[in-house]
Amino acid sequence: MNLSFADIAMPKTGALAVLVAEGKALSGAAADIDKKTAGALKRAMKAAEFKGAKGQILDLVAPKGLSASRVVVMGLGKMTAIDEHRYETVGGRLVGHLEKTVDRTVAVIVDAVKGSNVEEDSAAAHLAFGAKLRSYSFDKYQTKKKAHAGKNKLSKMVVMTTVTTKARRQFTPMSRVADGVCLARELVNEPANVLYPVEFAGRAQALSKLGVKVEVLGEKEMKKLGMGALLGVGQGSSRESQLVVMQWMGGEKGEAPVAFIGKGVCFDTGGISIKPGAGMEDMKGDMGGAACVTGLMHALAARKARANVVGVIGLVENMPDASAQRPGDIVTSADGQTIEVINTDAEGRLVLADAIWYAQDRFDPKFMIDLATLTGAIMVALGQEFAGLFSNDDELSEQLTASGLAVSEKVWRMPMSEGFDKMINSRFADMKNVGSRYGGSITAAQFLKRFVDGRPWAHIDIAGTAMNSPASATNTSWGSGYGVRLLDRLVADHYEK
Ligand code: BES
Ligand code: MN
Ligand code: ZN
Repeated sequence: MNLSFADIAMPKTGALAVLVAEGKALSGAAADIDKKTAGALKRAMKAAEFKGAKGQILDLVAPKGLSASRVVVMGLGKMTAIDEHRYETVGGRLVGHLEKTVDRTVAVIVDAVKGSNVEEDSAAAHLAFGAKLRSYSFDKYQTKKKAHAGKNKLSKMVVMTTVTTKARRQFTPMSRVADGVCLARELVNEPANVLYPVEFAGRAQALSKLGVKVEVLGEKEMKKLGMGALLGVGQGSSRESQLVVMQWMGGEKGEAPVAFIGKGVCFDTGGISIKPGAGMEDMKGDMGGAACVTGLMHALAARKARANVVGVIGLVENMPDASAQRPGDIVTSADGQTIEVINTDAEGRLVLADAIWYAQDRFDPKFMIDLATLTGAIMVALGQEFAGLFSNDDELSEQLTASGLAVSEKVWRMPMSEGFDKMINSRFADMKNVGSRYGGSITAAQFLKRFVDGRPWAHIDIAGTAMNSPASATNTSWGSGYGVRLLDRLVADHYEK
């Protein structure tokens, strides 16, 4: 979809959209348009009992006096509750609504709403952001439906405002973040026969055209580094495991970076501890953490973030095979700790152990945040609205919580303790890779913590938020791209000069 900003004018064709706060009359340019139609909009709103409630949409054949084909009146909800996020939702809903109509272009008026907390330029930029996020769809493999789906897509949206320059300036970096979100979604949506570790690494390599330094380590290099935990997971697969290191050094020279680490299990069968068949296809999304880190690096580089940021992703495929690792095997991680593999399906923590160690040892980062579709248990605990946050640092936790609320990608902090740590002590090795039946997400986090040297660290379990996403105003695809906006915001608010 082509998105642009322009001064307010009557569109010659296509849809015209206007916004109304709950219980308020049409204002600004929308009121002028109503006058041109001799009050037809006002009468239609009255007849349809359109009050401007959140989510309310009134779709009209354009009254006489307008050159547009239709007028769409969108409710903004209660004035006091209108925030930036509300405009994103409205932008998304507008796209969703028009996809069901014959119109392929829309001009939407976003001028000052008197009494609102959101400035006009922010309102325009966020509406465009929501529209851009919503217009992503994953239909590349729909050879039969494709023409149909494509036919319904909007080709053009013009956001008309009195502050085009300011709106455009605000939207430009946001548009790049949206590209990062859509990249993460695409990676999650791709099936595992297409997106295996080497192919994923290739897509990460494409970030080099944005100025990201990308290095790819294969199994030989990882063996040299002693990454027995990660390599053990991939050893039953015919696809080679990869470790991808992405660096965006947009900050001050020599300043320590911040590091993001992602679980990239391109497919998780469970290995020898094989998963039940029902729903196993969802495990193509078990690289959601790695997808988020890659999307984030895209966003930061594309908007030229003034920060030093490193992304490390561990890419493997967890398969059952004659050469697969067995329950009871003992592997040694790159930092020399031994792990008894009780359950080959608890593989994400094994991949992350070596990836976390690598980021820490090579880059000495200010903090580390890992993202992983790590446990089914986090969905039992928190559902699909909140990701699980585990951390050794209150300040980092508070920053993440605040960023999550700001961009509506929420996290909820979970406890960690010595008691949970003890549960992964092993009879035969330094630790085992699972605890008991209880607190499964917490013992997973305790496992990861054993590879962190005490510096600020957070682990975000995104098993419930990265994939199988409920449709929303700004996303209808299976992969959500969760975490890209959250971490982009964290970097912007706390780590950019
Ligand atoms: N990738 C799964 C977790 C998962 C499950 C993500 C469902 C998304 C949806 C992970 O590797 C896994 O299998 N975890 C096990 C851990 C158990 C063996 C201790 C789980 O959650 O059952
Ligand atoms: Mn698993
Ligand atoms: Zn997994």
